[in-house]
Amino acid sequence: MSDKVRAEVGGGHAPLGGSGSLEIRDTRTGKTYAAPIFEAGVVGDETIRGMDLRQIKVDSEDFGLMVYDPAFMNTASCKSAITYIDGDRGILRYRGYPIEQLAEGATFLEVAWLLRKGELPTKQEYDKWVHDISYHTYVHENVRTFMQGFRYDAHPMSMLCGTVAALSSFYPQASDIHDPQERNLSIIRLLAKVPTLAAFAYRHIKGLPFIYPDNRLSYVENFLSMVARMSEPKYEANPLFVKALEVLFILHADHEQNCSTNAVRAVGSSHVDPFSAVAAGIVALYGPLHGGANEQVLRMIEVINHPRNIPDFIAGVKGGKGQRLMGFGHRVYKSYDPRAKIVKRLADEVFQVVGIDKDLEIALELERIALSDDYFISRKLYPNVDFYTGLIYRSMAFPVDFFTVLFAVARTAGWLAQWEEMLLDKEQKIARPRQIYIGPGERTYQSKLKPGGLK
Ligand code: ACO
Repeated sequence: MSDKVRAEVGGGHAPLGGSGSLEIRDTRTGKTYAAPIFEAGVVGDETIRGMDLRQIKVDSEDFGLMVYDPAFMNTASCKSAITYIDGDRGILRYRGYPIEQLAEGATFLEVAWLLRKGELPTKQEYDKWVHDISYHTYVHENVRTFMQGFRYDAHPMSMLCGTVAALSSFYPQASDIHDPQERNLSIIRLLAKVPTLAAFAYRHIKGLPFIYPDNRLSYVENFLSMVARMSEPKYEANPLFVKALEVLFILHADHEQNCSTNAVRAVGSSHVDPFSAVAAGIVALYGPLHGGANEQVLRMIEVINHPRNIPDFIAGVKGGKGQRLMGFGHRVYKSYDPRAKIVKRLADEVFQVVGIDKDLEIALELERIALSDDYFISRKLYPNVDFYTGLIYRSMAFPVDFFTVLFAVARTAGWLAQWEEMLLDKEQKIARPRQIYIGPGERTYQSKLKPGGLK
């Protein structure tokens, strides 16, 4: 795939440009059809419109040809100008900026602005953005009592998704999604309040009193303060932890049409309020094949327990019994996930200060073996972003079941940018896939409970 940008889709929505067409001959009828091939964005993203296949019919009664594509293996559900991934070459860019450069120099809120607006903020824009988000970090006191109703051992992701969904009941005007001012306010509220709710969830499982936001602190410092502050009047976060979390938040901020973003777009396409749409994203992220993988990596390492057990574990993975090497493999990356490279370096920095994590040895050995084993090489299974993040989070004293919550805090920025892009995209409608019905044909109802039925 060439890297040359042919038609910038940035900002608005450039129409898909035509370049040749696909000729299709239907052997059932002998008819030939033409489906225009479109290109947009980076060269290589050639596409035909699914709806162009609908003209292919046996007769006028026929519905027309559909495409069967379970799990969207080869279907573009939208045009997007937000995130670019080249999975073969391990490239990730937000709005054109390489992830490595953003991780090196940007703040998370700068990236959140970039994802949403398409350009980096000026100083004035940034200061107002930070100010607005800082001043919406508080939640209604009823939210606090609501959270106290969860069981002491509730999973923090359950608490987070339930509470984010509940926020829509506190801001009924957020359902006015076509009003740009309401939209803006909801986006600011979500970016501001999700860390507060995440920190409250942490305090709840720890049985600690909730700590209110401190608006004098940066986004990440405030989050750490709400998580870790005890009796000190002002929380002083470890600068290395602040830096690490800022970088990890940037790496997790968006990743184009992944499972949770697709959930946010699909749910949002019903024109529900953004609190409800983002709650759907949190639920999708919770799954072990998606954001829940960072938690599963640590649980897997606990099971392995010692490097000497790795060969047996790898043999089990290769045995085809459904056991997976968690933190490995990706639907899009068929080379080393560029985020995993940054995370690995970051892990080295953190471990130099806090000491080597006892499980790092197991992780490094797992990676070494997997990268030289034909099973993983032939399937192009490389470490993904979640392989090392868990080790960093644990060295910062976050509990294992809180890891995905950290991911959700960061991904909120991407979900919101994608949600707004979807709303403003004139081509988008309510998401409604087709199906291939494989159930029984028509049959007559005959109750097995009582002849003639219960009524
Ligand atoms: N360990 C062992 N084998 C694997 C793994 C793995 N982690 N991932 C894929 N495979 C194998 C599959 O068994 C399959 O083998 P086969 O062709 O012999 O049947 C082949 O590789 C292709 O796998 P698919 O499941 O078809 O790939 P898909 O793109 O659907 O899945 C996924 C991607 C879900 C990420 C998968 O690689 C996986 O389960 N990884 C572990 C969980 C994980 O780390 N998830 C985090 C992803 S990153 C993120 O969401 C933030």
